[in-house]
Amino acid sequence: MLKAKNNANKMSNFNDILNKTEFSKEDIITLLSATGDDEKLLFAKAKKVKEENVGRKVYYRGLVEFSNVCEKDCYYCGIRKSNKNIDRFNLTDNQIVAAAKFAWESNYGSFVMQSGEISSPAFTARVENILKEIKKITDGKLGITISLGEQTEDTYRRWFNAGAHRYLLRIESSNRELYGKLHPNDNLHNYDNRLECLKTLKKIGYQTGTGVMIALPFQTIEHLADDIIFMRNFDVDMVGMGPYIEHPDTPLYEFREGLIPEIDRFRLALRMIATLRIVMRNINIAAATALQAIDPIGREKAVKVGANIIMPNITPGMYRNSYKLYNNKPCVDEEPQDCVSCLDVRIKLADAEIGYGEWGDSKHFFERTHF
Ligand code: 5AD
Ligand code: FES
Repeated sequence: MLKAKNNANKMSNFNDILNKTEFSKEDIITLLSATGDDEKLLFAKAKKVKEENVGRKVYYRGLVEFSNVCEKDCYYCGIRKSNKNIDRFNLTDNQIVAAAKFAWESNYGSFVMQSGEISSPAFTARVENILKEIKKITDGKLGITISLGEQTEDTYRRWFNAGAHRYLLRIESSNRELYGKLHPNDNLHNYDNRLECLKTLKKIGYQTGTGVMIALPFQTIEHLADDIIFMRNFDVDMVGMGPYIEHPDTPLYEFREGLIPEIDRFRLALRMIATLRIVMRNINIAAATALQAIDPIGREKAVKVGANIIMPNITPGMYRNSYKLYNNKPCVDEEPQDCVSCLDVRIKLADAEIGYGEWGDSKHFFERTHF
């Protein structure tokens, strides 16, 4: 009897937290730790908050991963500079523009350009030209997000003026100490610089996105709660986050024994998405591809609990296998056109609609007051 009463109390406490509008760190930890019925309540609430604030539509961003050449050496990433075990590739400008044209013709609304991190005047000029060309051939109507790492303010401005209006730069972990364990301790991998870059992007006027990896070695639930608080305090417009998946050719692989099972990492990632949706109601949240590496319908499950952006991979098929940040990357054998019909079916299963031909900008960007 006493037990039943305690359970009822616990349940009502959980519901009380779900119905708050301001969340303490303890509240966030409670939400992230939910299991069983509480977890179901969390997911249902996140779905409702999403529908009320950003609607039922999912927006597509055709993603081209145009080069795996990288100057950095992050300890978790399969395309890190020191990995000699991969073939490096670099699409031509024409191939990138053709991919953008494909996104445009498939009515995806937006396009994302991502690559390994390179900083050079030649790279800045190259991306600038490609952006202008894409704007030209799509009559300025294709939305463009870029995700090209840490760059100078001048480079960010040039790309913004050339037509990119959203930028993704994951903080990876907002905890300085944990960040230090995931990256070499040198000038190229400096936490403060990354933070400065995020501030610069916001100042320039980009819709600014960040994100973290979930269930990393050495990461605690407190770190993840702090990540959500970081996103809220920074007032980000967009978030992409997914489970960490170990890659054998990286230094972090050594710590794989300490990881929780993949299925639990996946559930934790869903709870992160759901909790973030409840805390930051009107931002755009992407269903990360890494979710699909663990569960074949992982991205669709994320859409059900708060995500509203999907980034279908439109990199030409023969290069997909070489852009392996982590193991088990999905859809590496497909060609872009295979994904169009596949995704349509998937989204309907996720109880959502596709915002074809729409940019699907972050509502938060237009409503936020901090610049
Ligand atoms: N597991 C999961 N995500 C990873 N990323 C890089 N390596 C991994 C990995 N092993 C993520 C990082 C990066 C994004 C492009 O991919 O968060 O910002
Ligand atoms: Fe690529 Fe299904 S999303 S084949």
